Amino acid sequence: MHILEIIEKKKKGVELTPAEIGFVIEGYTKGRIPDYQISALLMAIYFKGMTPAETNALTMAMVESGDQIDLSSIEGIKVDKHSTGGVGDKVSLIVIPLVASLGVPVAKMSGRGLGHTGGTIDKLESIPGFNIELSMAQFMENVNRYKMAIVGQTGDLTPADKKLYALRDVTATVDSIPLIASSIMSKKIASGSDAIVLDVKVGNGAFMKTLEDARKLAKAMVAIGNGLGRKTVAVLTNMNEPLGHEVGNANEVREAIEALKGKGSKDLLQVAVSIAAQMAVLGEAFSTLEEAKEAIITKIADGTALETFVLLAKIQGGDPETIRHPERLPQAKRSIPVRATSFGYVHEIKAEEIGTAAMLLGAGRETKEDVIDYAAGISLEKKAGDPVKEGEVLCRLLTNRENYEEAYQKALEAYVISADVAKPIPFILDVIG
Ligand code: URA
Repeated sequence: MHILEIIEKKKKGVELTPAEIGFVIEGYTKGRIPDYQISALLMAIYFKGMTPAETNALTMAMVESGDQIDLSSIEGIKVDKHSTGGVGDKVSLIVIPLVASLGVPVAKMSGRGLGHTGGTIDKLESIPGFNIELSMAQFMENVNRYKMAIVGQTGDLTPADKKLYALRDVTATVDSIPLIASSIMSKKIASGSDAIVLDVKVGNGAFMKTLEDARKLAKAMVAIGNGLGRKTVAVLTNMNEPLGHEVGNANEVREAIEALKGKGSKDLLQVAVSIAAQMAVLGEAFSTLEEAKEAIITKIADGTALETFVLLAKIQGGDPETIRHPERLPQAKRSIPVRATSFGYVHEIKAEEIGTAAMLLGAGRETKEDVIDYAAGISLEKKAGDPVKEGEVLCRLLTNRENYEEAYQKALEAYVISADVAKPIPFILDVIG
């Protein structure tokens, strides 16, 4: 087998065999095949696509490139949830306690934020003392005892994906559906859950800008998951504006706490309840989504959902009182209003611009080494569909920095305002499973 022949084959659109894909992934991970040849292959894949069989083989080759977590000592059907990446996406903070309160075990591994996207782990670390570095034994014990635990990516999961993703990033080959599907699903399969709910974001702030592409990606991921024996469902949700009103870290935790009380942004609550219900059904706690939703709404109304979040903080070393008194979470010294320069209706809020503005205020990292200011972020006062008068506050910049002009400009430009009435965009666009 030779890499040159494999590139040639893909260039002509001929299907690669699992053995050829395995050869490429192993050779690349071990450093035998250089970046320039893999770059050529990635570009050929970008243009010629991959068949379902090739996508499955690529996923499995990446899973097998590193550690695989064995969650079999945890009782019950372990359900995971993954978002394809959005801005203001604090859904995991809400669904972990919600699903755990229904008795379905959630063993969650999450990432940190980079660039314009935030990470669940960073958000949780804004709770004083919250420890995301549990040992594997503690992680398993917490899931068995309390039905929930969350850690940062541990071990050497899917090293092939890490290397490939970095190369895709610099060769303009990120936005290929089979490459995204195999990248996401390889991490999910390696982290060991029995069932997976995918939150596929659609819109200006997502990888998938159109519903058509998002459906293709969702179908590809669902096929990989189900094909490998993991029950998988994808929920397609709107990302033509950030989710909820808060973008940052501590302010997103505050908003998640409000949602667990049944208050706050309708879009956030609806997306979180819908994903939690899918997880509860895959976890076989309920046979229908309606029953699951009803139970979730009861857990929110009777205070169990919030108390389960308090418990999550406590069992991970965080200060539980901060959850009961969210005003104790880090708060920025300055809250700078961004005012509308025209009137009309908000049609979209470019999520990527808001995410970048939040990063410039200190809420995110430009490079992996940057230190986050948990208090920083953006609070959106106007959302898509809202009428706006000239001079009205669109959003507020939360920052401890003196210099916020660039963030101000980005936040202002993120708002797409025009005189015609904005049509409401559904929060949930489709479910594929
Ligand atoms: N997220 C991933 O993990 N991989 C991709 O390729 C895209 C988004």
